[in-house]
Amino acid sequence: MRSSSKPKISSRQVRADFNDLRAVVHYTKAAHRLGLWHSEQAVFAMHLPPPPARILEAGCGAGRVTMGLWDIGYRRIHAFDFAEELLAQADALFLERNARKDITLFHADARRVGTCHLISDTLFDAVVFMFNGLMQIPGRRNRRRALRQLRSVTRPGGTLIFTTHDRDHSPQERASWRREAAKWAAGKQDPLLVEFGDRYFEDDLGRTFMHLPDRAEILADLEATGWTHTWDALRREIAKEPHAVREFSDECRFWVARAGK
Ligand SMILES: C[S@@+](CC[C@H](N)C(=O)[O-])C[C@H]1O[C@@H](n2cnc3c(N)ncnc32)[C@H](O)[C@@H]1O
Repeated sequence: MRSSSKPKISSRQVRADFNDLRAVVHYTKAAHRLGLWHSEQAVFAMHLPPPPARILEAGCGAGRVTMGLWDIGYRRIHAFDFAEELLAQADALFLERNARKDITLFHADARRVGTCHLISDTLFDAVVFMFNGLMQIPGRRNRRRALRQLRSVTRPGGTLIFTTHDRDHSPQERASWRREAAKWAAGKQDPLLVEFGDRYFEDDLGRTFMHLPDRAEILADLEATGWTHTWDALRREIAKEPHAVREFSDECRFWVARAGK
């Protein structure tokens, strides 16, 4: 059993996990071959201001969503990630597709992005943090910090789009979280975890940290960080995804919010 004196999972560990070769190969393949999910395309069409809107993408990884935004006509895109190895892959992809000139790619941590000199005098029309990247920040305080930072670089009335898992999305999921709650009540949870809702596991694709919230948690976090919730829906309610997308990613909830005045 792990000793309880072991440090908790940190963003430093998450960053190292995303720089791991297994993760880099996985996200690079998806950026080259998978493109935008049907649900992402539908949500962008419904909620993202159209080009020439200025878009900031947080947690761009190897560039899957950035490239997808470029493909649907966005030409004023800033994209950042804190994993250098993924950024190098994104850079190569944008060059290969002749999109590099329209994309400002930079290294930053979402918890501090508002202080980055590259964007300090820019206000974006929309910010996106897709495929659950926000939930890969350990600690609710840190996720709220990232939401505040993203708010600080978005124009009043501007849009935020992101996804999370949902602890309540199926009876099986609810049952598994009831078992996990019993572990926490008995103090028998994995000591690496920071909060109830966290998961940290290893498979063929490397190690993954993920916080799985319920709906009330995200509504409270948006309200506490200067965002007004406008819409949310489970992916299955938005679009039927092909097998390749379902292999790459589990069910998730899409969120849309507006920056407060
Ligand atoms: C699940 S991956 C998604 C990558 C890409 N957006 C996609 O959909 O293929 C989540 C991304 O968020 C990034 N990320 C996690 N925490 C971050 C943070 N604090 N600051 C910046 N990027 C972060 C990770 O490095 C990773 O690239």
